[in-house]
Amino acid sequence: MLKNKKQKSDTMSISKEAELVAMKRVSEAVALTLREMRNYARPGMTTKQLDNYGAEILAGLGAKSAPLLTYGFPGATCISVNNEVAHGIPSDKRILQEGDLINIDVSAELDGYWSDNGGSFVLGIDKQNHEPLVEASKKILKKAISQIKGGVRIAEIGRLIETEAKKSGYKVIRNLTGHGVGRSLHEAPDEIANYYDRFNTERFRKNSVVAVETFIATHSTMADTQADGWTLLGNKGGYVAQHEHTIVVTADKPVILTEMNGIWG
Ligand code: CO
Ligand code: CO
Repeated sequence: MLKNKKQKSDTMSISKEAELVAMKRVSEAVALTLREMRNYARPGMTTKQLDNYGAEILAGLGAKSAPLLTYGFPGATCISVNNEVAHGIPSDKRILQEGDLINIDVSAELDGYWSDNGGSFVLGIDKQNHEPLVEASKKILKKAISQIKGGVRIAEIGRLIETEAKKSGYKVIRNLTGHGVGRSLHEAPDEIANYYDRFNTERFRKNSVVAVETFIATHSTMADTQADGWTLLGNKGGYVAQHEHTIVVTADKPVILTEMNGIWG
């Protein structure tokens, strides 16, 4: 999410089996929707068609689009193509092309519980050689999640993400972050940054639910909102890959609630 666009709220903490069951249900809904949308995407299709398909799946599962519900976003899901970093608006004028770098982000509410996931991928043949960026982002998310447990400083995970990005020759977007999720789309902890934020002294808490998302970039370090009020573009152009899972923090390895989205391939 975009920094400074959130409100302070409590951390979702799973204390009952019923809460875990409800979080699993909404997480499976967003994960399945993301997976099916990726499979459905084809060159020649508009991003609006792809969004409509996702909207139908969400509705069929009884889930409501979170960006629509929370922010009045003009679409059920965010679909960002090529130079768009995030929050791309589904459009009947945007036609997908072979080799496009596409990011789909699906978040939803079901029975008062919220979950969030997303992933970048290359459509069909990788004509523009985006695959190394996509692979780096996946690998970094996997590594970051494997290091999260109760008591770990949030800033240290940011450090890990930035360090790994640099090692692969990439940068990170500094004003887009992971976040708490569960009883609303964005809740405490408000920011899980992709860099070492020394001012953030917060630690991950056992039984809390968080959405961890990478923003790995070829050139840019900040995302700027465009005139449409939504679409984010990089401050220095280039491309950005994002991969996101909603997880439950434990005393050991996290439980990845959105695992079935298949973003790790
Ligand atoms: Co998110
Ligand atoms: Co998301």
